[in-house]
Amino acid sequence: MALNAKRYTVTAALPYTNGPIHIGHLAGVYVPADIYVRYLRSQNKDVAFICGSDEHGVAISIRAKKEGVSPREIIDKYDAMIRSSFDQLGISFDNYSRTSSKIHHETAAEFFKNMHADGKFIEETTAQLFDEEAQQFLADRFVTGTCPKCDHPEAYGDQCEQCGSSLSATELIHPKSTLSGAIPQLKSTKHWFLPLDQYESFIREWILEGHKADWKPNVYGQVKSWVDDGLKPRAVTRDLDWGIPVPVPGGEGKVLYVWFDAPIGYISSTKEWAAREGKDWAPYWKDKDTELVHFIGKDNIVFHCIIFPAILKASKEYILPENVPANEFLNLEGNKISTSKNWAVWLHEYLEEFPGQEDVLRYVLTANAPETKDNDFTWKDFQTRNNSELVAIFGNFINRAVVLTHKYYNGEVPQRGALLPQDQAVLDELILFPTRVGKSIEKYRFREASQEMLNLARLGNKYLADEEPWKRIKDQPERVPTIMYIAIQIAAALSSICEPFLPHSAQKLRGILNIDTPITWDTIASKAELLKSTHIIGKQTLLFSKIEDDVITRQLDKLAQTKEENEKQAIELPPIKETISFEDFSKLDLRVGTITAAEKVKKAKKLLQLEVDLGNEIRTIVSGIAESFSAEEVVGQKVTVLTNLAPRTIRGVESQGMLLMSETAEGKMVFISPDQGGENGFPIH
Ligand code: MF3
Ligand code: ZN
Repeated sequence: MALNAKRYTVTAALPYTNGPIHIGHLAGVYVPADIYVRYLRSQNKDVAFICGSDEHGVAISIRAKKEGVSPREIIDKYDAMIRSSFDQLGISFDNYSRTSSKIHHETAAEFFKNMHADGKFIEETTAQLFDEEAQQFLADRFVTGTCPKCDHPEAYGDQCEQCGSSLSATELIHPKSTLSGAIPQLKSTKHWFLPLDQYESFIREWILEGHKADWKPNVYGQVKSWVDDGLKPRAVTRDLDWGIPVPVPGGEGKVLYVWFDAPIGYISSTKEWAAREGKDWAPYWKDKDTELVHFIGKDNIVFHCIIFPAILKASKEYILPENVPANEFLNLEGNKISTSKNWAVWLHEYLEEFPGQEDVLRYVLTANAPETKDNDFTWKDFQTRNNSELVAIFGNFINRAVVLTHKYYNGEVPQRGALLPQDQAVLDELILFPTRVGKSIEKYRFREASQEMLNLARLGNKYLADEEPWKRIKDQPERVPTIMYIAIQIAAALSSICEPFLPHSAQKLRGILNIDTPITWDTIASKAELLKSTHIIGKQTLLFSKIEDDVITRQLDKLAQTKEENEKQAIELPPIKETISFEDFSKLDLRVGTITAAEKVKKAKKLLQLEVDLGNEIRTIVSGIAESFSAEEVVGQKVTVLTNLAPRTIRGVESQGMLLMSETAEGKMVFISPDQGGENGFPIH
């Protein structure tokens, strides 16, 4: 296999600590990164799997402001939550750090100081957006406006989520403060800019020429379009109070741009890990024989393929990423995942609601990963993949192999006899799986890899179904030891091949098969006997369990409820008016009426002139309902009429009363109609 590097530094995007982790983060970044790393470890590679919390930036300040607490409270809460949920899901970071840590503040400040000393920044006073009301400069997520590239009306001051462009706040058309809603003014302020235009030829050569063949087309394509658009100097400092203070003269009151400090967090996290493990961190970032891989979501491509590499390049000595296998986005039940709309499956909730089923989520998110295009997570698909793949294929095979070995041989792996061609064929195929699965993983094709892994269980299932040991035990008992021996070899191979994808199940399966030391992939590929005759396997337990309909219904109900709440929140109902006395109310003369004729009022889009039968008189009433009803359709309609409202002349017509109306969320008018058989002229009380 083509794993030639001496060591591997694998990073997963540092999550912002402004909310919990959801399935979109997992499918896009953390699950594939973990599979990759577990695979590298299975190949005995020297690997550092690095992550941590991204604790600066505007998203955190905004969340803190909204909840009326300090940023510190927000980051402490979510850092703890994120750590523990990653841990439970089996995301096997070698180190998970925080960008609020001392080592990170020092490391990032040092990068800045060194680049500053080497003249790598442009220092410039420019006009920036300023919110007079909040008395604050606006950049990044503090400001929204129309994207100059694609016209998306809600682009942020640093990036447009619709077209992926990276923006400066001053480029936004019709900018608006997200703090106060105010239209910002321009005000001068000094900042340090990274002249990305000077790195254009470097990026061209390194990525556009050097990685055309091996980087994912979505990543390559995005980089190409930015470079073709022309790179511009980008400010790497901000006028904010939350972040790493700018460590050079004139930087008082300013902090580093979060996207300057956060990627350096990979390096500080590596330092923290190395110090704890008694290792040297430097080779993991500076040795040419180290392969650096960044796992990220597609909204992070520009930062990892252009800005951070420019920082590394400017700081010299550092290696550049070998690959940046960014994924696309995962949707949920047809809608974009949204933290603010609570439209997500939250990892911490999943872990509580599906105890012992961590691997099911890992598997479904891998099998359906948004590798080449955006994908949809549905609970139905989750159930199907569990029930008909993990349970019916993988679990079923293991179950049959283990139960029959116990039944026929008291759990002892039997001595095999002479191999028939079909036995040999299965053993010959078995040894190909490490390479097959490994190749897919090395190409970052995790969906494909997960299906290859499942194919190994399919091979076992088919073998048992073809050879039918439960029948042979009666008519050809001398065949059965060979069949069961081979089935157990496949089960043993699976316990290792499935480990990157399903680490909890791999461990459980090793328990079931009584395997102390994990079998290496090389051993499987080398045709060696994996579990010898006379080895005693362990106790049978179910590896996976069926997920019933009611479990899925409960999740769907939860989402339906969220949707309902969101819709309710979206409607702004006016506040209830001041209390009135009964006497006040009884002044209103409300009566049942029927519209007997209707016509449009000329030159008035909204008005209908109505004749309303009130039992012993017909009134003319002008009503603003023409945008919701045609004249024809209201004739015959029963209505509630306020009859003692002082007459008013509207467009030359005297209106002698008023119809009671309401309106729907979509803005359509509806009649308040005495449907229960009210009769014309009778009072309503
Ligand atoms: N916090 C960022 C996000 O969630 C990712 C930061 S990645 C790093 O989009 F490179 F900056 F660390
Ligand atoms: Zn855009």
